[in-house]
Amino acid sequence: MAVKICGTGSYTPSYVMDNNGIAKLVDTSDAWIRERTGVERRHIVSKETTVSMASEAGHRALLRAQITAAEVDLIIVSTISSNVILPCAACEVQKALGAVNATCFDLSAACTGFVLAYNTAAAYLASGVYKTALIIGSESLSNLTDWKDRSTCILFGDGAGAAVLQADSRKMYLPKTHSDGGKGGALSLKSRHDWNLLGTEHPSDGDGYFMQMDGKTIFQFAVRKVPEVIREVLEENGLRQEEITWYLLHQANKRIIDAVARHLGEPIEKFPMNIQEYGNTSSASIPILLDEMAQKGMLNAGDKLVIAGFGAGLTWGASVYEWI
Ligand code: COA
Repeated sequence: MAVKICGTGSYTPSYVMDNNGIAKLVDTSDAWIRERTGVERRHIVSKETTVSMASEAGHRALLRAQITAAEVDLIIVSTISSNVILPCAACEVQKALGAVNATCFDLSAACTGFVLAYNTAAAYLASGVYKTALIIGSESLSNLTDWKDRSTCILFGDGAGAAVLQADSRKMYLPKTHSDGGKGGALSLKSRHDWNLLGTEHPSDGDGYFMQMDGKTIFQFAVRKVPEVIREVLEENGLRQEEITWYLLHQANKRIIDAVARHLGEPIEKFPMNIQEYGNTSSASIPILLDEMAQKGMLNAGDKLVIAGFGAGLTWGASVYEWI
């Protein structure tokens, strides 16, 4: 049993900050950001929240799939930036959509989150536990960003993407995923709940409560591990690179995507990008890209897609999907 994507949707905030806007906050320039990252602008929440964006993206995906909210029996929201801890974002999405029959939970695996949400839903659907899943990546990274730190604030943005999945009788492709908690310090963020009553002081907005990143280490990790895991997933499923139409990589940095294409010896045209418009939206980047491609009519029946995520944890992984 495989799964089919019945519909996709996305939502990005209307407020846009371009690189010149960032240059008013920190010592940087449009030219530097474009050259080192490929980012030109990012969308940033104002009235929106992680939950509201997730709900809207989910609503749009259901409309396109022509599936009612009541038919959804699984909702997974992948996020590291939810505006709610309890109840989980997925339950809030359930409430907003009226998906009264769904089992709902969140998944936290940063920029690999959407790939893992897809794999989790696919395993449930293939085994018959659930029939219809709504998977969503939604992030308000602007809330977790230190806007005084030029090494991180240039990179990130906000948005949400969603897909509706159902079981399908075709052959199932197996995913390949990995984690290396030993290297987790390369990209970290403390919870604001990282204190206890009998311990030290109540935390304030000090060190560690915004994202902290060793950019070079993350860059090298991505350039080494992403081509490796793509080769692994192709080998696992008996596929050749020539059979893949599109590689949808997590949109972290244009130079990372260029380097992955080079390592695989694949033309860059097979690696669609929207990082210039949104920056790095963590677990939302792959489903936003997928939705944009679907709406533009870029995906044809029989196209084989590799989706690959990588990021904090460290976590990384790739899955194969054949568009129908
Ligand atoms: N604007 C202008 N100059 C900047 C700058 C900025 N925003 N950030 C750093 N610099 C300067 C540095 O101070 C340094 O100056 P120096 O040579 O005088 O010391 C120089 O630019 C090079 O800095 P460096 O950190 O080596 O740049 P880099 O080429 O590694 O690019 C990143 C930095 C963050 C863009 C890059 O490391 C990266 O994208 N890493 C991956 C991050 C990522 O994708 N994270 C999420 C993964 S899911």
